[in-house]
Amino acid sequence: MARKPVIKAVNLSKYYQMVTTIVKALDKVNLEIYSGEFIIIFGQSGCGKSTLMSLFAGLDKPTSGEVFVRGENLAELNTLQLSKYRRTKIGMVFQQYNLVPNMTSLENVYLPLAFEGISRRRRIKRARNVLELIGIADIERHTSSELSGGQQQRVSIARAWVTSPWIVFADEPTGNLDSKSADEVLRLLKQLNQKSKRTVILISHNPEYLPYADRVVYLKDGKVIRISGKIKGATKRRKRSELESLQGVGKTAAQNLQKAGFENMLDIASAKEEDLAQVNGVSKKLAKLIRKEAQEIIVAREGFGEK
Ligand SMILES: Nc1ncnc2c1ncn2[C@@H]1O[C@H](COP(=O)(O)OP(=O)(O)OP(=O)(O)O)[C@@H](O)[C@H]1O
Ligand SMILES: [Mg+2]
Repeated sequence: MARKPVIKAVNLSKYYQMVTTIVKALDKVNLEIYSGEFIIIFGQSGCGKSTLMSLFAGLDKPTSGEVFVRGENLAELNTLQLSKYRRTKIGMVFQQYNLVPNMTSLENVYLPLAFEGISRRRRIKRARNVLELIGIADIERHTSSELSGGQQQRVSIARAWVTSPWIVFADEPTGNLDSKSADEVLRLLKQLNQKSKRTVILISHNPEYLPYADRVVYLKDGKVIRISGKIKGATKRRKRSELESLQGVGKTAAQNLQKAGFENMLDIASAKEEDLAQVNGVSKKLAKLIRKEAQEIIVAREGFGEK
């Protein structure tokens, strides 16, 4: 079984019909992004970066082509499933921060959890843990008007992180920041990506950031013209997998899980039981057990648990 991407574009196009012309904002893009990667979508203004992100995030519909998230076609999700996808599987960070102005940092961060049926007490705990993880616990009571741009962007990253999404998108997150704060935000995203193995897709036109990426996708006039860098894990896979530390998962099952796109603890924790159970050597019972165990490990690792 070939390794499965976390998100995939197949012949993805978005055209806008103008009065006399058609703008091809995206033109037959094919792209596969794997779990845990730090990807930069790079290109000049107007090349289609934000359009690609909107389609990946299910905020907009393609003219043709498809987006698959862990094998699931976004076009086949109903409205409810799509909004759940947006709320729980992806996190978004924008240039303008988009914080609710008169809420505190803590309230802004726990807001996304309000829709998930989590008690207020646990929401606050989780939000506090993420603020701490990001190093801004000291500003939890400040409203956004009392914060610098860099601080506001950290709060918005915390808000994107708090739901444990599969993918975090950041569209020009440093566009309004001075170069020092911008570097700090970039380093933070990279650290979070490395620590949690969560996929980060950063959109930028700034070549200075390219060294942060595992792979860079170069867009021009709506087309992918080049992809540089190496897919992480291609060599790592030969090493002992962290999945082998799960009870009942031997080397073969760990390899099969990786080949099926479940690369790390976070992937197992956020997978559906039935998808795990489809992997060779993983019974229904084992799928249930390892998912629970991986969730506990993630909670411990990211400090989401009750302290
Ligand atoms: N709603 C729309 N109607 C018409 N054209 C649009 C619309 N949205 C985007 N476009 C066009 O599609 C192309 C791609 O736009 P997009 O916003 O994706 O570019 P971008 O790479 O994000 O640019 P920037 O770096 O300036 O943010 C541009 O030519 C833009 O003018
Ligand atoms: Mg843009």
